[in-house]
Amino acid sequence: MGTPLVFIGMLVSIGLVGLLFWWLINTTEGVYLGRRVVIWLYDRYAHRYDRTKEFETAYETAYLSRPLLQLLDTPNALILDVATGTGRLPVTLFQRPAFTGKIVAVDLSRQMLTRAAAKLQYELHTNRAYLLHCPADHLPFPDHTFEAVTILEALEFMPSPEAVLREIQRVTRPGGVVLISNRQGREAKLLPGKTMTNERFERYLTETLGFEFVEIQRWQVGYALVWAFKAGDAPPTTAKPLGEIWRCPACDQTALTPQNNQWVCENCGQVILVGSDGVIELFSAKVDRPMAKY
Ligand SMILES: C[S@@+](CC[C@H](N)C(=O)[O-])C[C@H]1O[C@@H](n2cnc3c(N)ncnc32)[C@H](O)[C@@H]1O
Repeated sequence: MGTPLVFIGMLVSIGLVGLLFWWLINTTEGVYLGRRVVIWLYDRYAHRYDRTKEFETAYETAYLSRPLLQLLDTPNALILDVATGTGRLPVTLFQRPAFTGKIVAVDLSRQMLTRAAAKLQYELHTNRAYLLHCPADHLPFPDHTFEAVTILEALEFMPSPEAVLREIQRVTRPGGVVLISNRQGREAKLLPGKTMTNERFERYLTETLGFEFVEIQRWQVGYALVWAFKAGDAPPTTAKPLGEIWRCPACDQTALTPQNNQWVCENCGQVILVGSDGVIELFSAKVDRPMAKY
């Protein structure tokens, strides 16, 4: 009598462990196991990312680059794309001839950035795009630096989505625009503590972070697109070379200058290497006196 029950019990346990594993790795992309697991998974998955997503140029233009360009106060804008992945946002924006600005794009998966670099070779060479290997919750830029800040399909995979939103708010110039995707629907419910309903998200943006004119629109299956403006007013931030805006990780000064295949801080001598693909290796930089720690 006991044997079949033990057998069934074992099968149920194996099934439950399998479901838990599926949820931890597949559905939630490792986010409850820590940042390292998320990034490890993206590094493994990078070569298949674009094939799986099947981005369509017309769709990307209609939902992302055209409306973003219309909302900028200047086409010569300085834009930050957080968690850029394989460069989705920079690629669609650089396809618009009217956009004459620069884009700084950051991500913590080195392999995703290698794919972005392959697509943005021309813009990297002409210093219109910069790819930085660095985490989303410690952006190495002064307050009010960017005309627009974007983060697509990534917030829910961060250790603290709120910390990333605070960073985004900090580096956006008053009056500047943000574009954020908000996970919705059934899958959002499988990510407890990492997602908000659209209503709560809007309240968080306005009441906690001081954004205004929040607009939420339907986008892809499982995501809404959220547009908002940072309260206040300041002159538009036009495209500047990276050296004028990023802070040295060792001394916190804006004194990094490009020299051959590296950036060197004129204030403290800190060196940051640039990979052969053009990605700036900020995350692996050896910093003796770390100020802005990751
Ligand atoms: C689903 S992809 C989205 C990429 C791109 N924005 C897009 O829409 O195609 C999520 C990205 O978030 C990045 N990411 C996850 N956690 C991160 C973190 N803590 N800091 C920076 N990037 C992170 C991953 O490496 C990955 O490239």
